[in-house]
Amino acid sequence: MKAPLKFGVVGCGTVSLRGLIPHLAEKDLADRVQLTALCDPIADRVEHAAHAYGVPQAFTSYEEFLEKGGVDAITIASPIGVHFEQGMKALEAGKHIHFNKTMSVTTEESDKLIDLAAKKGLKIVSSPGEMLRPHNIAVKKMLADGVIGDVTWALAGAAFGSYHEDEPERDLGTGLTPIDPSWYFRKPGGGPLFDMTVYALHGMTGILGPARAVTALSGIRIPERRFAERVIPTEADDNTLMLLDFGDGLFAMVYGTAAGAVKNSLDFSGTYYGTRGKIEGLKLNGEYFDYPGRDIAVTAPDGGTQPGFGGNEWILPNIEGAHRQIGEQHVFADIMQLVDWVRDGKQSVATAEHARHVVEIVEAAYKSAATGQRQALRTIF
Ligand SMILES: NC(=O)c1ccc[n+]([C@@H]2O[C@H](COP(=O)([O-])OP(=O)(O)OC[C@H]3O[C@@H](n4cnc5c(N)ncnc54)[C@H](O)[C@@H]3O)[C@@H](O)[C@H]2O)c1
Repeated sequence: MKAPLKFGVVGCGTVSLRGLIPHLAEKDLADRVQLTALCDPIADRVEHAAHAYGVPQAFTSYEEFLEKGGVDAITIASPIGVHFEQGMKALEAGKHIHFNKTMSVTTEESDKLIDLAAKKGLKIVSSPGEMLRPHNIAVKKMLADGVIGDVTWALAGAAFGSYHEDEPERDLGTGLTPIDPSWYFRKPGGGPLFDMTVYALHGMTGILGPARAVTALSGIRIPERRFAERVIPTEADDNTLMLLDFGDGLFAMVYGTAAGAVKNSLDFSGTYYGTRGKIEGLKLNGEYFDYPGRDIAVTAPDGGTQPGFGGNEWILPNIEGAHRQIGEQHVFADIMQLVDWVRDGKQSVATAEHARHVVEIVEAAYKSAATGQRQALRTIF
């Protein structure tokens, strides 16, 4: 029998406390994953998390974590602006990596990560694995089968209103340092495109294939945010609208905006308009369409009506038993893609090449907005 993969978590903030650490510490994983080390520069946070979940090692230094943590693979859940540097160091140290969403903020950095991983024989999975979702796989097939005729345009995106500054996990209680969300509003790595619109972009490009060019408008709409009685100035754009060209006259509009979310996760999945109808989220011409696992999704408290949450998380790979009651199930499903890939050689669809294409779209959108020029894209997956 293969030994369990020794796993480490980098960054013990909101997503790690809400989902990653509780999932990875679950007893039912014991024969596949052993959570052996946590890392975060805030000593009280990392020590508290290690104690709460029985993780044997807690590090405040990333370098020491890589050197002494004894892990085979890591999930990087630190601010997006440090992902590239941490990723390169981890690969140099021989670790497989799962990135919590965007693995870098430039295409060139993504190239470097992919090249180094290949050179070292290591694997990278970068969230979000939107093409693991059964309904997205079904939408791709319906479009290929011409169910809505010829697709002419599509719409997807993410809107957030108040943002990560409101997450309840940020107040950890007496004696523990609150989790500061300022980085979500700073460069590099802040703004909704790298953190939220990535869902829409992974889904849409997974369904339609790689985009060929981007044109965008982008700016700051809400100049200040507040956290713990403190003002956070917005430095990264919080309002971006982009047009994607998929070739052959097929276009899409994708947004990442500070406007309040009106349709929950619907636009993470997107709407596809064709000459004979439309697919909007989970509905084909206004009626729910079927896909593998929908019979299970509808038994969840949300009735399986949210494309990105609730019952539709339950039907992702490895979301069973206790894992259906722990948050951030899609992120755990992505982490397990790495675990299965490393242990069983089963390649994930959540590839670094797909993630690089999404990074290129975001980078090109900002460049287009700054220059007023359409940006051609070079990467495929
Ligand atoms: N919060 C969410 O809803 C959510 C959901 C899914 C994925 N994500 C992704 O997960 C990542 C983390 O997001 P979050 O909301 O948990 O952030 P957060 O601000 O809540 O926490 C970040 C943590 O990283 C730590 N940190 C800062 N610099 C570090 C470094 N150099 N090395 C190690 N740790 C460092 C901070 O001390 C903090 O504990 C981001 O990439 C985000 O896009 C977030």
